Amino acid sequence: MSAPSSFPNPDSNDLDRLHAAVKREKADLAPGQEPAPMWVIFLFMIIAIVAGGQLGPMTGSFSFNISNPFSTGQSGDPRPGNEGAGAAADPFQTAMKKGSSGYAVCGGCHQGSGMGLPGQYPPLAGSEWVLGGTERLIRVVQHGLVGQVTVKGQNYNFPGGMQPFGAAMSAGDLANVLTFIRNSWGNEAHMITKEMVEKVRADEKRATQWTMSDLEAFKDKDVPGEIPAGPGATAAAAK
Ligand code: HEC
Repeated sequence: MSAPSSFPNPDSNDLDRLHAAVKREKADLAPGQEPAPMWVIFLFMIIAIVAGGQLGPMTGSFSFNISNPFSTGQSGDPRPGNEGAGAAADPFQTAMKKGSSGYAVCGGCHQGSGMGLPGQYPPLAGSEWVLGGTERLIRVVQHGLVGQVTVKGQNYNFPGGMQPFGAAMSAGDLANVLTFIRNSWGNEAHMITKEMVEKVRADEKRATQWTMSDLEAFKDKDVPGEIPAGPGATAAAAK
């Protein structure tokens, strides 16, 4: 008894062919697990490119330099706590700060309000002496003032007048105080620099206090000199 020739022989290649076909079949995919179609993938790529391009310039004011925690407080650094460093770079703000403490010397007579005391100390607020020519103003404080003076239409003649402050104050201190009185209580005039005070000091050696008539010639004259940024900085320095 012999087996029919059609019965698959376990050693034959047919068995391998049969299994190879089964192996080629992929398992059925569970619903919802099918791979995304190509067009969906391309759509997401385009969205990523467009969104990236938008994000690039839309960073607010972020900058690596400014956000650097080790950066020194250079001027223009807008982070909170660095206003002081920025202000220090502004000569006008520095002069105003220093001048306001230097004004303690003057405030006893001219008052913190700059209004002076009627009949005794003339006002600095709105005074034509303060706002007028810097040649006269610097000389008044440098060498003092005595005799009758007219300020804002009022006459003052304090016994002994005002003492000279030139010897007691450095040129820089004097300049800062004068910048301060020219820009306080509603006053607004360009700053007075140390160089301007030094120039008047070099020009004028004087042992006695000025009188109002002595200074008439300087009433509207400005000391030549470059005025740093601040009020009136663009005004002509010398007349
Ligand atoms: C002891 C009081 C006294 C002190 C301190 C004093 N002054 Fe005077 N100041 C006077 C008197 C008084 C006059 C008017 C002088 C006169 O009558 O001749 C005067 C006049 C002036 C004037 C001209 C008139 C005016 O009102 O604009 C200026 C400017 C001035 N002083 C600025 C200063 C400054 C700046 C300081 C501080 C550095 C100062 N004074 C400190 C008493 C003082």
